[in-house]
Amino acid sequence: MARCFVTRELPGPGLDRLREAHEVDVWRERLPPSREELARRCADAEGLLSLLTDRIDSELINACPKLQAIANYAVGYDNIDLQAAAARGIEVGNTPDVLTDATADLAFALLLAAARNLPQAAASVLAADWLTWEPARYLGHDVHGATLGIVGFGRIGRAVARRAAGFDMTVLHTGEGGVAMSELLARSDFVSLHCPLTPATRHLIDGGALEQMQPTAILINTARGPIVDSQALAHALADGTIAGAALDVTQPEPLPADDPLLGAPNLIVVPHIGSATHTARERMATLAVENLLAALAGRPMPHPVI
Ligand code: DGY
Repeated sequence: MARCFVTRELPGPGLDRLREAHEVDVWRERLPPSREELARRCADAEGLLSLLTDRIDSELINACPKLQAIANYAVGYDNIDLQAAAARGIEVGNTPDVLTDATADLAFALLLAAARNLPQAAASVLAADWLTWEPARYLGHDVHGATLGIVGFGRIGRAVARRAAGFDMTVLHTGEGGVAMSELLARSDFVSLHCPLTPATRHLIDGGALEQMQPTAILINTARGPIVDSQALAHALADGTIAGAALDVTQPEPLPADDPLLGAPNLIVVPHIGSATHTARERMATLAVENLLAALAGRPMPHPVI
C-alpha cells in the first residue's frame, strides 16, 4: 500500500478506487494547498494526483524523496517540470481525450456568445433595458459562413473544426497541411487557440499578431492564458484592433478584480470551465486514478506524458 496525496476532492467514484488500494490523503479546501502545504503533504508520498493549479517544479520534486508517480488531473501539463520528474525517474500522466468534446463545445459556445453579444443582450434584459424590438440594437457578427482560424490542430482543434462544419464555416488551421500563422490571422473572422503552452507558444498572440487580425475579428482562448499577451489584448480591444475576445483561460488565474483586461470592451471571461461537464470531469478522475494505480503497481501508465 502506497501513500498518495490528492490535491482536491474530485467528482465521481474515481477516488474510491484509489482508496481501495492505497492510503489516500485528500486536500479538501476550495483553494489549492500553498507551496509549503503541498511540500509538507507530499514529503512522504509515493503518488501525487495534482491539478493544473499546483506548480510541481524541481524544488517540490526534490523535496519528495519517495515520489514515484504524478497523475495530473488535466490534459495539459505545463504546471509540471517534466525534466525534473524524468531526472528522478518519476512517471507523469495526464487525462487526454475524455475532455476533448466538452472543451470544443465550450470554445464554440464562447465563439457564438462573443459573435452575437449574448452577455450584453442578457444583461440588458436584467437591467430592464429591453424596451421593444429594435432594428439596429444588439447587432452581432454572422457565424455561419465565416472563416475560423484554428491555432493548434490536435484533438481539441479538430473537434472544433467538426463543429464549424455544421455552421458552414471555412476552417483554416496551423500545422501540417495548414496555412502560415500570418495567413490564418489575416483571413480569419474568428481565431480559436488550441495549442499547448510551451516556450514557443508563450505570448504567441502578442501585439504584432493582434495587429495582423481583422478589425472585425474575435479571439477565443480555451487553451492556456499565457499564450496571449493580456496587456496587448487589452490595448487591442480598447483601440478596436480586433472586435472582441472570449477567454476561458487567463494570465494569471483568476484575474484580479483590478486587472486592466477586465476593463476592456467586448470581452467575455469565464473561469477555466472548458472541461467542466459532469461526464468529462468524472472521466478525468478515472483516468488520473488509473494512471496512478498503474504506476504504483509497477505497470506503465495508460496515459503517460513522459
Ligand atoms: C486541461 O485539462 O488541461 C484543461 O485546461 C482543464 O481540464
